[in-house]
Amino acid sequence: MKPLSLALSTTALLIPSVFPKSISEINGNRFLSPYQDKDVSNIKGLVTATSSKGIYIRSTNPDSDPATSESIYVYGNSTSSDVSVGDIITLDGHVSEYRSSDDYVYLTELTKPSGVKVTSGGNDVKPVVLGKDGLSPPTKQFSSLDDGNIFGTGNSSQISSSNPVLQPDKYGMDFWESLSAELVTVTNPRAVGKPNKYGDTWIVGDWSVNGAGNERGGVTTLPDDANSEAILVGSPLDGSKNPTDTKLGDYLGGNVTGIITQAYGYYALLPLTALSVSESNSTAASATTLASDGTCKAITVGSYNVNNLSPDSDTLPKIADHIANYLNGPSIIFLQEIQDDDGSKDDGVISANKTLSTLADKIKSSGGPSYNFTNINPVNDKDGGQPGGNIRVAYLYDSSIIQLRNPNPGSNKEANDVLPDGELKYNPGLIDPGNDAWDDSRKPLVAAWETVDGTNQFVTINVHLMSKLGSTSLEGDARPPVNGGADKRTEQAKVIANFTTTLLDSSPNAKIITSGDFNEFAFTEPLEVFASESGLVDLDDVVNTPATERYTYLYEQNCQQLDHIYVSEALSKKDGVKMDHVHVNTWVSYDEQGSDHDPTVALVEVCD
Ligand SMILES: *[C@@H]1O[C@H](CO)[C@@H](O)[C@H](O)[C@H]1NC(C)=O
Ligand SMILES: *[C@@H]1O[C@H](CO)[C@@H](O)[C@H](O)[C@H]1NC(C)=O
Ligand SMILES: *[C@@H]1O[C@H](CO)[C@@H](O)[C@H](O)[C@H]1NC(C)=O
Ligand SMILES: *[C@@H]1O[C@H](CO)[C@@H](O)[C@H](O)[C@H]1NC(C)=O
Ligand SMILES: *[C@@H]1O[C@H](CO)[C@@H](O)[C@H](O)[C@H]1NC(C)=O
Ligand SMILES: *[C@@H]1O[C@H](CO)[C@@H](O)[C@H](O)[C@H]1NC(C)=O
Ligand SMILES: *[C@@H]1O[C@H](CO)[C@@H](O)[C@H](O)[C@H]1NC(C)=O
Repeated sequence: MKPLSLALSTTALLIPSVFPKSISEINGNRFLSPYQDKDVSNIKGLVTATSSKGIYIRSTNPDSDPATSESIYVYGNSTSSDVSVGDIITLDGHVSEYRSSDDYVYLTELTKPSGVKVTSGGNDVKPVVLGKDGLSPPTKQFSSLDDGNIFGTGNSSQISSSNPVLQPDKYGMDFWESLSAELVTVTNPRAVGKPNKYGDTWIVGDWSVNGAGNERGGVTTLPDDANSEAILVGSPLDGSKNPTDTKLGDYLGGNVTGIITQAYGYYALLPLTALSVSESNSTAASATTLASDGTCKAITVGSYNVNNLSPDSDTLPKIADHIANYLNGPSIIFLQEIQDDDGSKDDGVISANKTLSTLADKIKSSGGPSYNFTNINPVNDKDGGQPGGNIRVAYLYDSSIIQLRNPNPGSNKEANDVLPDGELKYNPGLIDPGNDAWDDSRKPLVAAWETVDGTNQFVTINVHLMSKLGSTSLEGDARPPVNGGADKRTEQAKVIANFTTTLLDSSPNAKIITSGDFNEFAFTEPLEVFASESGLVDLDDVVNTPATERYTYLYEQNCQQLDHIYVSEALSKKDGVKMDHVHVNTWVSYDEQGSDHDPTVALVEVCD
């Protein structure tokens, strides 16, 4: 009996020595706490902020390891009513790792707080300064698990299972994780994203963005850089609301102070109070200077994803204005996301004649040219997108300049082909519509054109590849992030490339323009495959658009390019080829947008 009870009490005496003595020990130097699911007692901290659901406390005896956060979130609203900012308290609690989805990174927190004792009040609370006078986040890489390539094979590993040691000087996620629950001030922040309906928006402080900054004050996705230096600003802790009309590049009132947390797959800063805009760039997107001269010497080509356009869309007048006055009424326009004549009503209607003629009429009355149109109706409900909307690609063309060459439209089941004499079998016609690559996706539309005098032929392919649905966030658990639909886009790119090489095998000097919404960046696998197999070149490369100015879309913190123009050598080698991305949508507030994509316009010579 005696030896046994002695052994037990010895063990009992040893237990307190493994209890964490400080907040940094609870956090540890990895993503997950070494004390996960353990009860802890007598934890001491300074209250730095409170919310309706809990409080944030910072260690009063910090360690010297930059990887371990000195702060922690205490979840439980009973605490917030008993303490004030500036109190030093001790409490007991339970170490929990919380996330609301398996796709997200966990937040370390103390739950079930009890035994809260205020030991002193009115202490000084100083935020950690982030910016040129303080700490600056890493600018390119997000996680050591990405193996240096944020665009590498998605979900090769997960933060939650690998739980790597934090390297806050090297990796963006590690940097923000090392500040979990910390009160920080971001100096001179500016918006690099567009708020969602809750007013959550992305910012950077006055730190380096390492060459990714564009002229508008945003940051651009580059081949090796998805901008880990930006942070999402979430809901203010005092219950006030952030503005929802912030624009790209807006300055946000000097400094913003708040708490760093992790929620919904992102590191976020919860400001003490709402953001306000102090300075906004009033320079609007200017109209392109590219203009057709009505001859083969200068044909202008527009490309525009018009975001589920139907005859009743509120955005239709704005889109018509963009085409007439900002794209200068291009000779031909590649449209994506044209819905059928009754929009998202799922009743078997597939014609888009009314959608296209309503748009053409509005362009004309907005001062643009008279456009004719051509498209092929999809099989009802088979091409993805908003249910019942039957989105498809379509062309508008200025019939005073160009015409379809020997029109002979194919059906939605007939595959276009190149005939022995080099002409298209169908004009216009779809590329291999029965191929599995196009399941639930838009079929590319090929058309052959000539100037109205019957000479100067060229061929266009209008594409809208599979969407990125199913992607995980840049700061999610899956490393590298999952690029939803990428395999499908690669298959689709190969099918289109097969068609362009068939055309080029038949006529090596074929003038081919492939354009539209590729739903992908030029430097990821689907478009690398397309560039290498299609025989076409990226027009942005031909005209040398600066890398940071290549964007048509604003997603999370990144200005990025989903819309591209690829041309054959017969066009790229001619003098005078030009191109503009016209930022009518990325530069305005959400409510002012005509679409979620910017249009692009190019000028090419198509003379025989
Ligand atoms: C705490 O939350 C509970 C349940 O959500 C609520 O009933 C209570 O009023 C809250 N107390 C405070 C002080 O906010
Ligand atoms: C990533 O892989 C893990 C482990 O196989 C799996 O549990 C998880 O569902 C995957 N996540 C995604 C988004 O594919
Ligand atoms: C405003 O935007 C224009 C166009 O992008 C840019 O050239 C200019 O530098 C911006 N002005 C400021 C103050 O950032
Ligand atoms: C912003 O914060 C920095 C660092 O704490 C400080 O030096 C500066 O005065 C603050 N600026 C404003 C406008 O409050
Ligand atoms: C749509 O317009 C085309 C000509 O552009 C015409 O051939 C076709 O019959 C029209 N379809 C419907 C359903 O009105
Ligand atoms: C173009 O549209 C006009 C007006 O609707 C029509 O008169 C003309 O026949 C059309 N031309 C072609 C080539 O479809
Ligand atoms: C390429 O297209 C031709 C028809 O034009 C077809 O016979 C061939 O199988 C296709 N090749 C691939 C790899 O899809």
